[in-house]
Amino acid sequence: MTISNIEDLRQQARRKLPRMFFDYLDGGSFSERTLARNTDDFDQFTLEQRVLVDLSSRSLATDFFGARYSMPAMLAPVGFAGSFWPDGEIRAAEAAREAGIPMCLSTFSINSIEEVGAVMPHGLAMQLYVFKNRDLASGIIERAWKVGVRTLFLTADTNVSSVRERDTRNGFRTSSSLKLRTVLDVLSRPAWCWRMGLHGRLLLGNVKDQADMPRDLMSQAAYLSANVDPSMNWSDLAWLRREWPGKLVVKGILSIDDAGRALDDGVDGICVSNHGGRQLDGARSSISVLPEIARFVAGRAEVLLDSGVRRGSHIVKAIGLGADAVLLGRAYAYGLGASGRKGVSQAIELLRNETSLTLALMGMCSISELRANRASVRELEAVRNELVIASRSTV
Ligand SMILES: Cc1cc2nc3c(=O)[nH]c(=O)nc-3n(C[C@H](O)[C@H](O)[C@H](O)COP(=O)(O)O)c2cc1C
Repeated sequence: MTISNIEDLRQQARRKLPRMFFDYLDGGSFSERTLARNTDDFDQFTLEQRVLVDLSSRSLATDFFGARYSMPAMLAPVGFAGSFWPDGEIRAAEAAREAGIPMCLSTFSINSIEEVGAVMPHGLAMQLYVFKNRDLASGIIERAWKVGVRTLFLTADTNVSSVRERDTRNGFRTSSSLKLRTVLDVLSRPAWCWRMGLHGRLLLGNVKDQADMPRDLMSQAAYLSANVDPSMNWSDLAWLRREWPGKLVVKGILSIDDAGRALDDGVDGICVSNHGGRQLDGARSSISVLPEIARFVAGRAEVLLDSGVRRGSHIVKAIGLGADAVLLGRAYAYGLGASGRKGVSQAIELLRNETSLTLALMGMCSISELRANRASVRELEAVRNELVIASRSTV
């Protein structure tokens, strides 16, 4: 099958993964309205076409978090990625390293921080969930620092876990035993069973050695989900700020008030995110909130965006609207489910080419030019209003 875009990778992942894992990857919470809006709302913004510009020398290289990367994108934390492909987090890290972009590892990864750190000594960030037992979080950040992680993402939008109805139907993370229907579904993907069977037992690599941890993946997942601390609040962010000497990013910000609070607590980065439509169904899309948050932050911290990015034009719009970089979530995870490291590389390169081409068709050669010409990304509604006013004044 020819892979022309992220949707093609999604279809391939759908065919290759047991339904339980594909649904976990693809689904959102409740009616999945925010999930859909995340991508649809990029259409609310238009790009300005400019012509007769010398485009012979183009580059997407850009700086964020104090380092230079080949494009303004990084891989988002995706839990259980090692269940899509054997050693999934290691394979994703290899693809990211090769592509010259960073990656953020999930607390809920199958490969451990040490395993992933070994293939990505530079540019690996760590995502943190805070559990009722604070020692778990302290242990994870200590280990992350030791392997060279210098950027920590605190996920702030999961004090309670939302309902993802597809997962409930499949019994994923909601039960420690598999339903017969799920077992039959898994067996219907023999190639996946073969690959994963050869790999050996799946466990959550960052926590599997904790004393009271159950000994199989489903029970570990259910146990950890039940142990995420619902009382986590701003004092925990302040605690982390004291504990963590590196860069601290708060992930899951959708309001100016929360952005302001996080800035007061000394964060280095704000990640505008609704967890890919997996938490509050009905929340605004990340891209629709981005302009007001970027204006408010005004360079006091780096601004990142995730949720809904499936096209290079989405990356261009996010940067044009004030983001320093985007996080790719499902976009790369579909690639991982489709064909492991090769699929992740395909996802990154598809998005790189689309981004580069989109910029070129706007008459630009670099990300810095885009940042200097933010007016080239405009809200469709504003463009329409101007046209109406212009047509009235000519009558
Ligand atoms: C399968 C899956 C697992 C995820 N696991 C985590 C996680 O462990 N920690 C976290 O902070 N975010 C997690 N996220 C959210 C992503 O980091 C990111 O915010 C989201 O995927 C962005 O939306 P997109 O997939 O539409 O790009 C997960 C997302 C998906 C799709």
